Amino acid sequence: MHSATTTATASASEAGNGQAALWNGTGGQAWVDNQDLLDHLFQPLAARLADTAGALSARRVLDIGCGTGATTRAVARALDAGGECLGVDVSVPMIEAARTREALPNARFVVADAQRHAFETAAFDMLVSRFGVMFFDDPVAAFANLRRAAAPGARLCVLAWRGPDQNPFMTVAGRAAAPLLQEAAMPLSAPAPGAPGQFGFADPERVRRILDAGGWQDIDIQPLDVGCGMPESALERYFTRLGALGQALHRVDSATRARIVAAVRPAFDPFVDGESVRFDAACWRIEARSGDPAGVRR
Ligand SMILES: C[S@@+](CC[C@H](N)C(=O)[O-])C[C@H]1O[C@@H](n2cnc3c(N)ncnc32)[C@H](O)[C@@H]1O
Repeated sequence: MHSATTTATASASEAGNGQAALWNGTGGQAWVDNQDLLDHLFQPLAARLADTAGALSARRVLDIGCGTGATTRAVARALDAGGECLGVDVSVPMIEAARTREALPNARFVVADAQRHAFETAAFDMLVSRFGVMFFDDPVAAFANLRRAAAPGARLCVLAWRGPDQNPFMTVAGRAAAPLLQEAAMPLSAPAPGAPGQFGFADPERVRRILDAGGWQDIDIQPLDVGCGMPESALERYFTRLGALGQALHRVDSATRARIVAAVRPAFDPFVDGESVRFDAACWRIEARSGDPAGVRR
């Protein structure tokens, strides 16, 4: 694989906001512990990116914020002979988990802060991400850095969540738990619009400005709704381990935790159909193309 893969050994401590600590701490560990559930849940989204990479006959693909590697592997499988996918992530435990899962000869994983890492210039002809680009403390700097890593004409195709109002499945647990967390003096704080986090790219005009300032061209942002699901038997594990509520439950006593679980589970009933849970992931499909390397602006 090209030299970017062997030199990309940046420390997770490069990242300049609380996101690196979160993903190297309890947040990342929760994803590692529940990677089977998350991979099942978001498999249709990895498949979309893999299909695109295959259709474009991409050869050198970068998966940004790859986590435990499901999308990196899906893309690697979709590439023609000789094609390679490199997954980078700021989280040491998630990259360790990615490396210990099924090994593919054309999928590799490196710990790197995608915003700051000194990638080899013009090393990739496609950049993808499933929900890994909303966490940068300086998104313009991040997309300018990624733009330098992109070869002239390279394609960017990343998926990010639309707003919380359009993703009720993602917010129902926090809403149902809110009164009890308030009672326990542990309210969940709502991040400011555009702040690094799950819904940091909810505003498409802001995303367009970020990509434009990062030197990307032919920016196209389209809504994408994808049906996702999991077995009902996994639902309690999902909302007690993952997301903001999963984080908060680490800090409450067992009686409060039991009351919260009892209040939250029925709130998911509209998404439960027998033994299955189903919802639509309301995403943005964000595409762009890199032009002349001299075109990068800050
Ligand atoms: C919501 S998870 C998605 C993981 C993976 N793409 C998936 O779909 O399974 C977000 C990922 O972005 C990573 N991340 C956050 N900030 C990053 C940064 N500055 N550079 C690289 N990865 C980052 C996190 O560590 C985490 O693995």
